[in-house]
Amino acid sequence: METPNTNLITLTRHVLSDQIRLGAAATGDLTLLLNAIEVTSKFIATNVRKARLINLVGLAGETNVQGEEQKKLDVLSNDIMVNALRASGKTAVLVSEELEEAIIIEDAQKGKYCVVFDPLDGSSNIDAGVNIGTIFGIYKISPDSKGAIEDVLRPGSEMVAAGYTMYGSSCNLVLSTGQGVNGYTLDASLGEFILTHPNITIPTRGKIYSFNEGNSMYFHPPVNAYLKSIKYPTNGKPYSARYIGSMVADVHRTLLYGGIFGYPDDKKSKSGKLRLLYEAFPMAYLTEQAGGIATTGTQRILDINPKHIHERCSVFLGSRDDVQDLLKFYKDVP
Ligand code: AHG
Ligand code: MN
Ligand code: MN
Ligand code: MN
Repeated sequence: METPNTNLITLTRHVLSDQIRLGAAATGDLTLLLNAIEVTSKFIATNVRKARLINLVGLAGETNVQGEEQKKLDVLSNDIMVNALRASGKTAVLVSEELEEAIIIEDAQKGKYCVVFDPLDGSSNIDAGVNIGTIFGIYKISPDSKGAIEDVLRPGSEMVAAGYTMYGSSCNLVLSTGQGVNGYTLDASLGEFILTHPNITIPTRGKIYSFNEGNSMYFHPPVNAYLKSIKYPTNGKPYSARYIGSMVADVHRTLLYGGIFGYPDDKKSKSGKLRLLYEAFPMAYLTEQAGGIATTGTQRILDINPKHIHERCSVFLGSRDDVQDLLKFYKDVP
């Protein structure tokens, strides 16, 4: 008989052991910040599970800076995160999809990290009970800064950690602190995230593509030519289509199964749809840490220097060989 595991590796234990390995260089502040984020994920997860029962589905009645109608869960998740991150004492600047301006934390609670986040990703899927998530990226303020907007207007390659939590058939937190990617699953009875996916690496090639092809009439020629090449391949083995419409879920599947996820800029959405700071950067960071590629089609996403906190960018990410195939079309198709 298989006996239960008596040596569970919780998220906190795992992150702490990393810090211990780093020795004197680590103060434990990042561990405490990650712990605060973990608690927000559990708090949001429990509300997501009960949403239909406690009147948490539907619109909140306000519009955010992106021009999107906010759902009740967008607003609630944002409030949960802002409160917890401020109270952690470890943050200096917060940027949220749902807040027009960045929050500069007052001196009494100021720390040295900045968190950029999408509190609830995949809002359009909430009411149908389809997977949704939370995305976050973390920068450290520069040594001479007290926390200013410049501390987050930096390339994604300068992030010290990034991750997401997916609220799906299981609740998974996926995290990188710059030394690979690890995945944890919430054991609801324990209230702990347990290491279940150590050292996630994306297969070098997949068999799945994930685009909102309803936008094909707007796509630029290289994207349509690439999509045609995987749907009508010369080897007679076309790719499968999977598109959930929650970036967290589509990226999670891509990290585990391989393939390519894309949300390109097009003739209608000149800069694409996904937001650079709190959607594209964290996911690009995780993708690269897992051995994949993340590009706009013409540039490495993590190299972009943001001008505005809510700017958007074109996104393609996934298995190395699949993204390289797409890049050939960007080079060759006018
Ligand atoms: P959010 O719900 O945080 O506003 O993000 C929605 C994003 C992202 O999750 C997803 O990849 C994309 O929008 C889906 O867009 P379409 O509905 O246009 O396909
Ligand atoms: Mn939104
Ligand atoms: Mn989103
Ligand atoms: Mn969102």
